[in-house]
Amino acid sequence: MSHNTYYDKHALARAKDLLADMTLSEKLGQLNQFSGEDGHISDHLRANIQSGNVSSVINEVDASVVNELQRIAVEESRLGIPLLIGRDVIHGFTTVFPIPLGQAATWCEQTIEQGARIAACEAASQGVNWTFAPMIDITRDPRWGRIAESLGEDPFLCARLGRAMVTGFQGTDLQDATSIAACAKHFAGYGYSESGRDYHFANISENELRNTVFPPFKMAADAGVATFMTSFSDLNGVPASGNKWLMDDVLRKEWGFKGFIVSDWASIEDLSVHGLTENNAQSAQLAANAGVDMEMVSRCYAQNIPALLEAGTVRHSDIDAMVTRILYLKFALGLFENPYTDSSKFPERANLEHLEAAKQAAIKSCVLLKNDAHVLPINTRLTNHIAVIGPLADDKYEQLGTWIFDGDERYSITCAEAMRAKVGNNGHIHYAKGLDTSRTFSNEGFQEAIEAAQQSEVVIMVLGEESILSGEAHCRSNIDLPGAQSDLLDEIVALGKPVVLVVMAGRPLTIGAETDKVDAVLYAWHPGTMGGSAIADLLCGDAMPSGKLPVTFPRAVGQIPLYYSQKMSGRPVTQESFVHQNDIPIRAAQTSLGMASNHLDVHFSPLYPFGFGLSYANLQYSEVMLSSQQMSAHEPLNVSVDISNESDFDTDEIVQLYIRDLVASTTRPIKELKGFRRVHVKAKSKVNVSFEITEDLLGFYGQHNTRITEAGKFYVWIATDSASGEYKEFSLVK
Ligand code: NOJ
Repeated sequence: MSHNTYYDKHALARAKDLLADMTLSEKLGQLNQFSGEDGHISDHLRANIQSGNVSSVINEVDASVVNELQRIAVEESRLGIPLLIGRDVIHGFTTVFPIPLGQAATWCEQTIEQGARIAACEAASQGVNWTFAPMIDITRDPRWGRIAESLGEDPFLCARLGRAMVTGFQGTDLQDATSIAACAKHFAGYGYSESGRDYHFANISENELRNTVFPPFKMAADAGVATFMTSFSDLNGVPASGNKWLMDDVLRKEWGFKGFIVSDWASIEDLSVHGLTENNAQSAQLAANAGVDMEMVSRCYAQNIPALLEAGTVRHSDIDAMVTRILYLKFALGLFENPYTDSSKFPERANLEHLEAAKQAAIKSCVLLKNDAHVLPINTRLTNHIAVIGPLADDKYEQLGTWIFDGDERYSITCAEAMRAKVGNNGHIHYAKGLDTSRTFSNEGFQEAIEAAQQSEVVIMVLGEESILSGEAHCRSNIDLPGAQSDLLDEIVALGKPVVLVVMAGRPLTIGAETDKVDAVLYAWHPGTMGGSAIADLLCGDAMPSGKLPVTFPRAVGQIPLYYSQKMSGRPVTQESFVHQNDIPIRAAQTSLGMASNHLDVHFSPLYPFGFGLSYANLQYSEVMLSSQQMSAHEPLNVSVDISNESDFDTDEIVQLYIRDLVASTTRPIKELKGFRRVHVKAKSKVNVSFEITEDLLGFYGQHNTRITEAGKFYVWIATDSASGEYKEFSLVK
């Protein structure tokens, strides 16, 4: 942490001093995280804290219980070392913000930082001082349930948004009562779990790790994230929790990370389940030597390290370093001075300001995917009878999404509620659930839904996935709308009214057939507490849709992994070379000539590309202007574009900078995001947006897995999404 703003050399000196006073058993105690007991403190937990065996407690969030735990640690253990109180504060605490994937759709570092700041403040008010976020695993597989918790498919976007989250949680000073320690997770490769199955293995070349998977982690380390968490997954044959190359060689030695590393839940114990070790003793040995400092809930360290030290297979000096890193954070957080939490000194949780921030985040996170014939925005002065239909239209809980242990659904505002408030006495909302849940197959509720639609001038269908269908261990092989939702939609569409589809989901869904049938589609992810208010504002034109997809939407599961930054194949497919199986003559002779890299039964393009999102405004991008055709290390390039807003709507536009390195010593992606900016463009006006391209921005990890830049030609785009715009060419000269 030497170059980060949180580095505190006094904390390090104090940690070292304290270490000198510790017995071996007290040192080993600092490596253990215990599970909380749901507001209860058992004799077992109490005794372990008293004897200095507990460094951290996970999942205890009642301030009085946490204070009592701290009191036992501080007053009844010999050295009085306070506890780290860990919790998965992932996208809010009491006030729930959109799921991280939704937050990523804002492309807005300030919004994300503010969301994490509020979450930290609410969590800290209950004594939590450490969160297990941000999850900055790059993933390109929407089957994987944890894509909901991710910041999308792109390393550049994820790195910046992840850093914003770290800054939000940790604040400007870790000693501040509202700051909590963050945790960059899961190092590394978890998002590449084969077939999108959780806890599955990942085989990722070192080159891919360095170019795609590592950048967000490196940025988090540079930003001073306090801790890292290991991944559950097997990475190239060595599960992360026993992977010395990852933890020690890369993270500590190469990147200079000085914080501590925690295992994932029992992931050290899992090493023998993977078949990497024979027993817990070997697992402890491997993990300790890899550099994993704290063990989450399993007891491999506690039960085996004394014997391993005796046998000399774990070194005392390593244990000292591990303990020092953990104590360092406790000092840096100011826990020795202030171990207790006085909730009354914090702002109320879910106060109006927090709820408003959650609403603004949800507004920015929704992505308008389709708006034919300008069915949106709905003018509620002219359109008085509106149907709001669907299992997610009026469900305070399901709109919150995964990881909401502390969310309070009583604060939620649903779409149906918000639309009722919007039309007031001027009209009527005809609400029907249609289906009991998103997974329901029974069509019992269809008739009521049809009647609601018949009485209305426009229909808003709120479909998608319940919260529990995404998140950890909740992966799907089929990512269509579950249950009979598509059938319900068909019945409603058949009535011939304008239909707006609002999707709440934890992942991209394969909704091509549904989007074809409706007039407009707003993708709302799981939008959190204020989701309904945000959606109603967007649908009625009181707010402007501005989110853009942080992840590619496939047409079919068979296309996965599908992402915008794929490599160029030797036989790239084009519109001209694309062949659909229906176009192949019967008994055509086998040939590979003219054949390109495509599936025969689905178009090669995505349903919606990365970076895509509409607004109600009509924006035009001018040609990209370059300050020169050539650039060098000393002379960066300035690229710019004019964006004009021909419409009557003020809007925010997320302007995206992409490059392509045409020839390199290892093949490079066909496009790579290298910059983005959210700009405000007033109605009937024009803005100029420019980016600087430095040599460093063009760097990549080459054949020897070191970071290099190579002279040569590049393309550059400034565009509204990853599939639009005309490129300009420039060269990097050395
Ligand atoms: C397991 C998850 O993989 C991890 O992300 C989480 O922080 C821990 N459990 C603690 O709940």
